[in-house]
Amino acid sequence: MLARWPLTLDAAACENNTLVPRYLGPDHPDPAHRDALTFEHWADLAGGGVVWLNPPYVPTAKLSSFLGRAVATARAGVPVVGLLPASTGASWWWEHVIETGAGVEFLRGRLSFHGPHARLGGASAPWASALVLWSS
Ligand SMILES: C[S@@+](CC[C@H](N)C(=O)[O-])C[C@H]1O[C@@H](n2cnc3c(N)ncnc32)[C@H](O)[C@@H]1O
Repeated sequence: MLARWPLTLDAAACENNTLVPRYLGPDHPDPAHRDALTFEHWADLAGGGVVWLNPPYVPTAKLSSFLGRAVATARAGVPVVGLLPASTGASWWWEHVIETGAGVEFLRGRLSFHGPHARLGGASAPWASALVLWSS
């Protein structure tokens, strides 16, 4: 499903769940790469590829901050693909997805999330999900 994009940076990750070798996340060996929200330019790390973003979904303010960074990165010329809850009634969805003209691909069924950050313990999520593509 993701093979169609040359992903080069995972902007919300840990060493054990990053989709690609280069990531931003709290356990990164370089302290400057531990917080994607304070790291100035994701585009500088993308190396000509596409940024992957499956951010923390709560709290909403943190999710919105991640999405704001995704939009800014796309405007700087580097595409970002995000996996998000398809929360079509949420303000953040309208602000960061609809009103930015991002591409949306709704995913059939329900995803299950695994690993230390999976709050559902591997059970299927009660929400629908979507892939969102921000590109300039
Ligand atoms: C939903 S998981 C994504 C896991 C994996 N990268 C993926 O795409 O499936 C969210 C990740 O965001 C990381 N994270 C939380 N706050 C962060 C921050 N401020 N900067 C970078 N990563 C962060 C967590 O450590 C966690 O690994």
